[in-house]
Amino acid sequence: MNQNIRSPRPRSALIASQPINPPARLLMGPGPINADPRVLRAMSAQLVGQYDPSMTAYMNETMSLYREVFHTENEQTLLIDGTSRAGIEAALVSMIEPGDRVLVPVFGRFGHLLREIAERCGAEVHVIEAEWGTVFTPEQIERAIIETRPKILAVVHGDTSTTVAQPLDELGALCRAHDVIFYTDVTASLGGNTVETDAWGLDAVTAGLQKCLGGPSGSAPATFSARAVELIDSRKSIEAGIRSAGDPVLSSFGSATPIRSNYFDLSMIFDYWGPKRLNHHTEATTMLYGARECARLLVDEGIENAVERHRMHGGAMLEGLRGLGLSIFGDSRYKMNNVTAVYIPDSVSGDGVRGELLDDFGIEIGTSFGPLHGKVWRIGTMGYNARKDTVLTTLAALEQVLRRAGAHVTPGGGVGTAYDFYADQATEAELAASVAL
Ligand SMILES: Cc1ncc(COP(=O)(O)O)c(C=O)c1O
Repeated sequence: MNQNIRSPRPRSALIASQPINPPARLLMGPGPINADPRVLRAMSAQLVGQYDPSMTAYMNETMSLYREVFHTENEQTLLIDGTSRAGIEAALVSMIEPGDRVLVPVFGRFGHLLREIAERCGAEVHVIEAEWGTVFTPEQIERAIIETRPKILAVVHGDTSTTVAQPLDELGALCRAHDVIFYTDVTASLGGNTVETDAWGLDAVTAGLQKCLGGPSGSAPATFSARAVELIDSRKSIEAGIRSAGDPVLSSFGSATPIRSNYFDLSMIFDYWGPKRLNHHTEATTMLYGARECARLLVDEGIENAVERHRMHGGAMLEGLRGLGLSIFGDSRYKMNNVTAVYIPDSVSGDGVRGELLDDFGIEIGTSFGPLHGKVWRIGTMGYNARKDTVLTTLAALEQVLRRAGAHVTPGGGVGTAYDFYADQATEAELAASVAL
């Protein structure tokens, strides 16, 4: 055989030889959204060793920054490596012992996820359900607590599947009165809606970067109250190989059972982030750079200002959609600032319109799940994309695509109404400033 003739490269090798070069997209769905360029830049920084003084300093800084983001004094405020559901699993598997009763109020897709994870942890799960688009009253939740006497209440704050947020401010006191640990998932709400960990009495709170925090998915910021830490540490069992003399080791047959996951064992993760620097896992350094930058940007902007920015641009999107003549889904009193569900007009194909928006304008909006599938689109205004230009561009493009699809929309109604909304906001802000003087 002639040694100079190269055999053809397999197709996979040809594809793999191309650099990654994603198409330009404006991500206006329920998350992920475009990452803030400053976060991407932070993530391109070189790695350092796991225990390099600069790395441990970054870990400590990340903890303090997220204390501000979560509005908490909790010492145990850290990152769990993995997407948001890694945070949920870590919290639940570390707190639930098989047979524990857990109450899950479900008002959307992610309530079902909490139930699913709690069941896999071996909990006796009790569920109460509310129609999608609505939330529970504190009285309904208290009644269920009294009936089921759970060890843990696990509830989603903002559920992107329905675009509404369960008010949590009264639930912490209820949980304390009934000696219940209060877990909540703020993945979709943190940074764009008010979240008050300490003032609301939240015991365990987990999030993700890919919504209002303006980062990529892959790191789950989380915080744990002293009550939650006491519960988790009562199950501490340090793995062989990194154990020191005197470290606790639990047997599966004792009164407290060891946490059923090694990777998500928060008692060891706390020791990794704390002064012991237990060598539990190798921190995902690049994700930590990104997560730290997300929090730094939010703290720099001011958390309340960021929430207000989401309220304003979310409001402009909502009014613009109404201005086009479209109807909004869900109980508006509880709507999250950062995502809006809008009914798909009868005359058009939901997927067809989404496809044209993507192909012709490079704009992605979201589909929906469960009872809402095929009925509503979900349009996000969050994180880096909670801006006037993104709102106006999306409304303008949506109008064109809807008109081409034969839907009756008010010409110019989307952009025009959003402009009016912004003008009203500016007038209100000026009035407020003059009253304050
Ligand atoms: C409220 C909520 N919880 C959990 C998740 C799951 O997040 P991830 O896909 O990052 O694991 C999401 C994602 O959309 C969410 O909105």
